[in-house]
This record gives sequence, structure tokens and C-alpha cells, in this order.
Amino acid sequence: GIIKRNYHERVLDHYNNPRNVGSFDKKSIDVGTATVGAPACGDVMKIQIKVKENKVVDVCFKTFGCGSAIASSSLATEWVKGKTLDECLEIKNTDIAKHLSLPPVKMHCSMLAEQAIKRAIYDYKVKQEKLAAENKGSS
Ligand code: FES
Ligand code: FES
Repeated sequence: GIIKRNYHERVLDHYNNPRNVGSFDKKSIDVGTATVGAPACGDVMKIQIKVKENKVVDVCFKTFGCGSAIASSSLATEWVKGKTLDECLEIKNTDIAKHLSLPPVKMHCSMLAEQAIKRAIYDYKVKQEKLAAENKGSS
């Protein structure tokens, strides 16, 4: 069909059966949250990670956007699950785009996913640093 011609089947698969949709409590100390947006199209992507002993033990996302953005975030959640934070930081948007066969005009959709992972990790790390500082201050 028309859709099939425009979207790779892996995009459609993630679009129709998105993995790990949902949300965690943003305030939870083991959760890192990132909300990123694409100015070009107004799409918004939220990715949250749950971390234990430096590993992503759970992850979820919510994306308001095009099929490629939904597929990119869904795929990204699959890729980060079970990985260490350092391993997650190595995930590149170009790998996501390649896996989903995204055309050049959809590259920014995969960039949102890379950005969201990086910022979620950053958010988590900042939380840990704050906690460590607080503990120091109170001892
Ligand atoms: Fe983002 Fe179409 S441009 S949904
Ligand atoms: Fe903008 Fe996909 S995120 S078109």
C-alpha cells in the first residue's frame, strides 16, 4: 500500500506495536527523564530510564510525532534495556536510522531518540550527584 512504500516495515512494526510505552515517576531517585522536541516539526519525545547499579533495568517512552519518531524511540528503548550507561551513550542516531532505513528527511527523528537517551542519562547522573552532595552536607 501507500504507507508501505513510504515507511520501511520495521518502522511500521514499531509504529503498530510500540515497545515500552508508558511513564515512570519523574521524581523517583532511580529514574532519569528527558523530553526533547524537534523545532522543525513540533514533535515531542519523552524517554525515561530506570537505573540500578549503573545499568538500565527498565525504560519507557511517549512520543507525539511522526511514525519515524515513534519507531526511533521504541527501538531506542529496546536497545538501552539491560545496557550500562556508558554503553547507552554509544548509541548513535545513524545506527537507529540505518536499522529503520529512514530516508534523509527523517534523520532528525532518529536524532531525537539519541538526544533523549543522552539527556535521560544526564538527568539521572545529576540526580545522583545532588543526592551525594546532600548526604555529605548532612553528615
Ligand atoms: Fe512530525 Fe509529521 S512532521 S509528525
Ligand atoms: Fe519530526 Fe519525525 S520527528 S518528522
